[in-house]
Amino acid sequence: MERDIKKVLLSQEQIQNRIAELGRELMADYADKNPVFVGVLKGVVVFYADMIRAFNAPCQLDFMWISSYKGTQSTGNMLVRQDVSADLKGRHVVILEDILDSGRSLQFTYQHLLDKGAASVRICTLLDKPEGRKHGITIQVDYTGFTIPNEFVVGYGLDYNEKYRNLPYVGILKPEVYEK
Ligand code: IMP
Ligand code: MG
Repeated sequence: MERDIKKVLLSQEQIQNRIAELGRELMADYADKNPVFVGVLKGVVVFYADMIRAFNAPCQLDFMWISSYKGTQSTGNMLVRQDVSADLKGRHVVILEDILDSGRSLQFTYQHLLDKGAASVRICTLLDKPEGRKHGITIQVDYTGFTIPNEFVVGYGLDYNEKYRNLPYVGILKPEVYEK
């Protein structure tokens, strides 16, 4: 897998240091709120496991699995493959995501969880690619790990065709890998 990586963008150490900081920010805002951390599968799993252990107070874990399927329009629709199991009425929800690109999946997830009656919904993403944001997407992120350039990255949960998720760092994939 390593030989397909052009450059290590974020090392394990950089990621761990930033997660410790994010944990302190979340503790300041949620330590007494018993928040529900909703992970968006599958890319988030590695970040999720580290992030919840940086939050040293009671919390509840839940997951959603969504995928975008291409309809006839280029906008792409979102499909809920697996919904959260907790009753979110009156609960404080923090969505954990691996990466925010066009913003479509988070915009959808955010509205979906608000519609379930959550008292509040905030977003925590490990990576943000602001240049990828699509016109008309207004989603705001509350906690961001790293803002990165508009390059395709893999590792630390992120995949290309389901591969590279288990690399322990975030790397830029060599273009020849997806041009093959
Ligand atoms: P959005 O709806 O365009 O914001 O897409 C977010 C989803 O696209 C993420 O949850 C990832 O699954 C995928 N994605 C976007 N950019 C990358 C990338 O650079 N590497 C791997 N997956 C990505
Ligand atoms: Mg994802």
